[in-house]
Amino acid sequence: MTGPQPAATTVEAMVIPSDEEIRALHEKYAPTPEAFALVYTHCEIVCAVAEQLLDRSGLALNRSLVRAGCLLHDIGVYRLFGTTGRLDHAHYVSHGVLGHEILAGEGLPGALCRFCSHHTGVGLTRVDVREQGLPIPEKDYVAESPEEELVMYADKFHSKRNPPVFVTADSYAASVARFGEEKVIRFKEMRTRFGTPELNPLVAAYGHSLVGTSEETPPATDGGG
Ligand SMILES: [Fe+2]
Repeated sequence: MTGPQPAATTVEAMVIPSDEEIRALHEKYAPTPEAFALVYTHCEIVCAVAEQLLDRSGLALNRSLVRAGCLLHDIGVYRLFGTTGRLDHAHYVSHGVLGHEILAGEGLPGALCRFCSHHTGVGLTRVDVREQGLPIPEKDYVAESPEEELVMYADKFHSKRNPPVFVTADSYAASVARFGEEKVIRFKEMRTRFGTPELNPLVAAYGHSLVGTSEETPPATDGGG
């Protein structure tokens, strides 16, 4: 064969793990059955939100990549459960970077690892990291591909708080305002592009309530989800 070889990490060439393989990774890293239930259920819900938005928008995204990204995005949260089984909220924002490390250690391609490190809030910049004193390396963690953007956006509609809740678009938009007008604009842009999800069927299916007031939503740097 002559000419340059195709890059091994292009989406077309990438082997995307199956749902079963991803579930096995969750089981491997979850410290307790309770942690697994909390995180894996959330990932399934984010996946359902993203697929609903994808179906309704008609956007030509890689559906398998979106699905794997949703199911994997929060795997780093397991690293934040201490020996007592309690979640380390003070370092919660680091779960994206921790998840990226886990998947890289498992030999998964960078395009999949990035779903972990690039889904927080509506995209963290190095300026956000510095100004908010976040406990992660000072870098940009902004979603770039449309698949990364959709996973990040869909994540904003469900939160793993105790008990877990669904979050309306208006509620998230109000809560993210504390991080500046540019974050509000960023969320609005994604809402225009991907649409507003219909959460009621998921509320009924999972039995988590729908939060409609900004006071009840978690900080945006918690990843919303
Ligand atoms: Fe999440």
